[in-house]
Amino acid sequence: MTSTLDDRTAGARTRTLGARLDDATRGLPAPLAVVDLDALEANAADLARRAGGTPVRIASKSVRVRHVLHDVLARPGFAGVMAYSVREAVWLAEQGVDDVLLGYPSVDTTALDALAADGRAAAAVTLMVDDVAQADLAAAAATRHRTTLRVCLDVDASLRLRLGPLSAHLGVRRSPVHSAADAAVLAAAVEARGPLVVRGVMFYEAQVAGLPDTSPAVRAVKKLSVADLAVRRAAVVEAVQDAVGHPLDLVNSGGSGSVESSAADGTVTEVTAGSGLFVPTLFDGYRSFAPRPAAFFGLDVVRVPGPGWATVFGGGYVASGPAVKTRLPRPVWPAGLALSGREGAGEVQTPLRLSSGADLRVGDRVWFRHAKAGEVMERFDTVHLVRGDRVEESVPTYRGEGRTFG
Ligand SMILES: Cc1ncc(COP(=O)(O)O)c(C=O)c1O
Repeated sequence: MTSTLDDRTAGARTRTLGARLDDATRGLPAPLAVVDLDALEANAADLARRAGGTPVRIASKSVRVRHVLHDVLARPGFAGVMAYSVREAVWLAEQGVDDVLLGYPSVDTTALDALAADGRAAAAVTLMVDDVAQADLAAAAATRHRTTLRVCLDVDASLRLRLGPLSAHLGVRRSPVHSAADAAVLAAAVEARGPLVVRGVMFYEAQVAGLPDTSPAVRAVKKLSVADLAVRRAAVVEAVQDAVGHPLDLVNSGGSGSVESSAADGTVTEVTAGSGLFVPTLFDGYRSFAPRPAAFFGLDVVRVPGPGWATVFGGGYVASGPAVKTRLPRPVWPAGLALSGREGAGEVQTPLRLSSGADLRVGDRVWFRHAKAGEVMERFDTVHLVRGDRVEESVPTYRGEGRTFG
């Protein structure tokens, strides 16, 4: 059975959900962000089930709420956080997270210094590198503070196809390290720096994890990628171990859309997932899991420009990535609302087109889903955690804690 979001089922689920969110947040001022705890917990259990015993590391960029990170980390099947900035990683380590893997390289020498100076953080955090230039900065910080830092190598997981003179790169543009030989050369160079230890390798297969299964072509690319990585991952791990002369204890892979295929590879020691917790609109079209939206924002109608229209306050929370329609927020409750083609999601206010049957008055609340998971939390200081039709707890986002990292 395909688990792609079926509009009718989604409509029914969203309908009751919208009424619950209205009840739960009555009296709270909008714009406001909420997380539906029942959906979040079901999503967390589903990610752990799909990983089949391989530990799931949480991608913090896709959450950006410390309370939620701690809550999910305490659940069975989860271990560690994948942070997106070194400053964030040091902060999380200070807050008691004892296993933080950077998902991306850093050239923030101030943050690298803070990491090397803090024994607890240095023991908790693993840096990510794909170039000796990044390793040099980490090594300099480690040397200044007479410590050792652990690093992981980011290995390009894109699929490279060659058909005669034609070649294609299917995946994201990240690491230049692609082959086992590339990885071995980098690993040896990193350890030659002295205070750095290579403890693992990461493969982020964006073309499998981050693409909805919308066409046979996408499904074919995913199949080829999984087969390519099954061979290449093992070869990279072996080559890096030979190059550094000690075993690796971390082989990271994954993304919310590829949890089961990544975990099925015996070389992989852990999978990373984040978006699968909040399930934003870009994650609606996957066959690998049933989308259960858990994060929403509410905006209030402030005026009615004319019949068939209502305008809410706020809303211009457009997601990163290519500037296309799928990056816009989507009104989901009440049913029958659409952004206008001319104004989209506005800077201060957002006009909504009402299809027949929809009725909105000044003061009514409209619920939206964001296109991406954690980014929306950058718009709010607080997120209200809703259970059923009441707010169980209101907690600060990263922004609410005065923390913005990138
Ligand atoms: C390095 C890395 N791993 C894993 C992920 C998967 O995160 P999510 O599950 O939120 O898509 C990402 C997302 O961009 C990533 O950059």
